[in-house]
Amino acid sequence: MAETKHAVIEFIEPGRTQTEDAKRAARQLRRRLEKERAAARKAEQLDKFPEQEWSSKGPRGKQKLRGLKVLAPRPVRTTSHTAATAYPFVAGPGVGANGLYLGRDQHGGGAFCFDPWALYEAGVISGMSMMLFGQVGTGKSSLAKSLAVRQVLAGRKLSVASDKKGEWTRVVKGLGGTVIQVGPGLSTRLNPLDPGTRPSTDVQGHLMTDEAWAMMVRTRRMSIIVTLAKILTDRDLTSPEHHMLSQALDEAVRISGEQDRVPVIPDVIGALQAMRQDGDVMAAEAASVMMMTMARVSSGDLAGMFDGETTVMMSAEARATSIDTSALRGASPEAVRVVNACAGAWTEAMVTTRDGGQRIVIYEEGWDNISSEADLRRMVEQWKLARAYGIFNILVLHKIADLDMAGDRSSRMAAMAKSLLADADVKVIYRQDRSALQVTSSEMELSDREVSLVRSLPKGTGLWRLGDSSFEVKNELTKAELPLFDTDERMDKTATGAGSHAA
Ligand SMILES: Nc1ncnc2c1ncn2[C@@H]1O[C@H](COP(=O)(O)OP(=O)(O)O)[C@@H](O)[C@H]1O
Ligand SMILES: [Mg+2]
Repeated sequence: MAETKHAVIEFIEPGRTQTEDAKRAARQLRRRLEKERAAARKAEQLDKFPEQEWSSKGPRGKQKLRGLKVLAPRPVRTTSHTAATAYPFVAGPGVGANGLYLGRDQHGGGAFCFDPWALYEAGVISGMSMMLFGQVGTGKSSLAKSLAVRQVLAGRKLSVASDKKGEWTRVVKGLGGTVIQVGPGLSTRLNPLDPGTRPSTDVQGHLMTDEAWAMMVRTRRMSIIVTLAKILTDRDLTSPEHHMLSQALDEAVRISGEQDRVPVIPDVIGALQAMRQDGDVMAAEAASVMMMTMARVSSGDLAGMFDGETTVMMSAEARATSIDTSALRGASPEAVRVVNACAGAWTEAMVTTRDGGQRIVIYEEGWDNISSEADLRRMVEQWKLARAYGIFNILVLHKIADLDMAGDRSSRMAAMAKSLLADADVKVIYRQDRSALQVTSSEMELSDREVSLVRSLPKGTGLWRLGDSSFEVKNELTKAELPLFDTDERMDKTATGAGSHAA
């Protein structure tokens, strides 16, 4: 409308005579026009901001997002499950808070809590074993210790199969547990032929009959004797040798039974000696070889360690136990392997029962354990039974390549070692150097990001693989734990014997 009026005035002919009336009419028209223009301008403004309203903090209503006010969206709270779906590859599902605090999830997941039994129940892991890799001094043992100590304080039990540096002694004693020290010249002895703890039920949960128990003990004893013979001969046994050992064991059990005591290795040696008189030449020869082999257990640097009845009572009820073999530093590799085998088998015989509740079994610096076939086999079997007996195994190694110590790549032993790795549903990698990392990344299919992460992990922080998920976790130690777990200070005092095998 304003346009129309405007057009009219523009079209008044300039040269036309204007009477007073006409002049007045023109003035009135101009004024009206001006009013209408002002109204139009206002209308135009209102059209731009029709509902404009201002508060002290800026525009409200429809304009509220167009003002100068800085936007501050409210944080969203959601479950990690939803977050993992909404932000794939950024947010992983957490392990939940169902467990004991171990440290911080470095990717914003907050507290990292871990309880293998709960994770098993939840279906996150299907095997009850953990492997821990990393360079010396990166915090592997500290992680194992903090995990173990916190579990023990929560009512579980702990057994350290063979503690080569004696670094668990303080920890186990601190928990009120029993430490057995074995080594040349020490008065403590472990009898590898001890029957072990009799469980009230078998693996299937059936009541343990006398026959079943006798069979279990027989199998265990035969297994450790064969293991020892294999370690000491550094080869597989022949059939006659195997047969002779078996006969000698039965004879040793009979003789000791008559004297109302448990059989010991010298009983087996004695039986083998008697069997050398066997009419059959092959049998006599096998008995002779085995006798001389087993005699090694009760002579030289091994004498007095495994050749008599056990001198310490280690109850299956004890909340923490460890076998400290640090006195063996500098002993021959053969002797170290015998000690590992005996200590491992003995510990397993003690813990293979459902009655003792849930237990963590630690294999510290486990490369020795996996360099002997019989030992490795025992471990593979033991680990398969772990779930049934409520055991969670932790094996500490330097690097995955240590598994190759089990034999050359194609061998049966290497395959067994790899099966240990495959069965370990919890794998933790601490800092590694480039060469170790190459094997690790290919064996564990690490992503490029994970590889560069592992190379630069600070002390105490590790990459965790739990089933299919990965976490970067900083293990947090308490003020009470720090001095208890400190290996640096101890290393200074006993630096000479630490050797290159310190893990
Ligand atoms: N999470 C941690 N926080 C603080 N100190 C740590 C942590 N982990 C390890 N340490 C310290 O580092 C030293 C070496 O750790 P250790 O666990 O013995 O290493 P590894 O077993 O890998 O050789 C120990 O003295 C320990 O006190
Ligand atoms: Mg260590």
